[in-house]
Amino acid sequence: MTLVDRSRYPNLANLTTEVLKVWPEHKRYLENSLGPREEGLLSFSEKLAEMVSRLATTVHGGISTLGDDYRFLCEEIYLPEEFYFRRHGSYRLKSFEEALNTVYNNAPFMSRYMNGLLMSDVLWINHCQGLQHFAEVYLNSLPGNAQLLEIGPGHGLLLHLASQNPKISGLAAYDVSQKKVDMAGKALKALGAAKPVRFELKNILDDSIVEASNGAQFDAIVFSEVLEHLDRPEQAVRALLHLCKPGGRIWINVPANSPAPDHLYLVREPRQAEDLVRSVGFEVVDTAHFPMTGVTLERALKQQLTISCIIVGRRSAGLRQADNSSLDNSSGPSLRGTGRTAARAPRGDAPAPRT
Ligand SMILES: C[S@@+](CC[C@H](N)C(=O)[O-])C[C@H]1O[C@@H](n2cnc3c(N)ncnc32)[C@H](O)[C@@H]1O
Repeated sequence: MTLVDRSRYPNLANLTTEVLKVWPEHKRYLENSLGPREEGLLSFSEKLAEMVSRLATTVHGGISTLGDDYRFLCEEIYLPEEFYFRRHGSYRLKSFEEALNTVYNNAPFMSRYMNGLLMSDVLWINHCQGLQHFAEVYLNSLPGNAQLLEIGPGHGLLLHLASQNPKISGLAAYDVSQKKVDMAGKALKALGAAKPVRFELKNILDDSIVEASNGAQFDAIVFSEVLEHLDRPEQAVRALLHLCKPGGRIWINVPANSPAPDHLYLVREPRQAEDLVRSVGFEVVDTAHFPMTGVTLERALKQQLTISCIIVGRRSAGLRQADNSSLDNSSGPSLRGTGRTAARAPRGDAPAPRT
């Protein structure tokens, strides 16, 4: 039994079937996630599922390992963090060193974590909608001949999507971890990326990033699911301003209320992250808010549930000094913002996973 039309979406059908083999109880969640997807999002989901299926060929055990690791991610990695978040109203980890010692340096754990996240890009509606916004809205808003930088490329899915867009003429990627650089390079090879990528081992929080020689190089900068991992988020966004050409555009994807064993920066509602982007001197030109599977945006804001927050910022033609606005972490829910919001999902009682 498949949850989607196999004749139209064969890779998506195959992926969900594999997940249900290792986790039959997840059926209702998947119905909640796939049911509301309209044709455009289903076609994009199929494209992502095809990419994930190709990457599965590079993993020992293939797609069934990804299915196992996806279940591990939901039940063993995220659920305990969710309990902590509900009890204390904050993320559990307080410093980057803790994340390094307990998560990043634990190679077998990291491997399962990354595999699980790869599946979530297709199976969690907010992850899929975020990637669709990147591929179909943001990339198409760029000028021709754009030089694009991604910071923290992870599996390289966004780099691959960017490489397929005719507006992008050059691609670079910085990551703080050599393992992640190697992983993204291997993934792009498996995906058959249409253009070469120049990889560099760089920490966005390193002072050398803001040296004059690094300034104003890129028309487009992608910062997806990285900000929440940092203990100095404002410094990172300032570095993006330095790297961005006047008139260039950044695309940030940061989850609000998304407890995880390596998340440090807690965004409580979309406006908080948008204010951070404005505070360093970007103009916010587009936003989109995608709540977790099975939940409306209103409910996510009220109950502090996960929302993928997309922010497109533009560096004005003349560099404006940062105004040092407050980076208040505690403001109440708000629907402010110019951008789109996700369609209502039919049910609101889906269990974990929540991000
Ligand atoms: C969760 S992954 C995000 C992957 C991908 N961007 C996505 O949206 O699926 C976070 C990535 O950010 C990288 N990263 C974390 N801290 C960083 C830093 N200070 N400077 C550069 N990269 C960093 C990690 O090594 C990892 O590749």
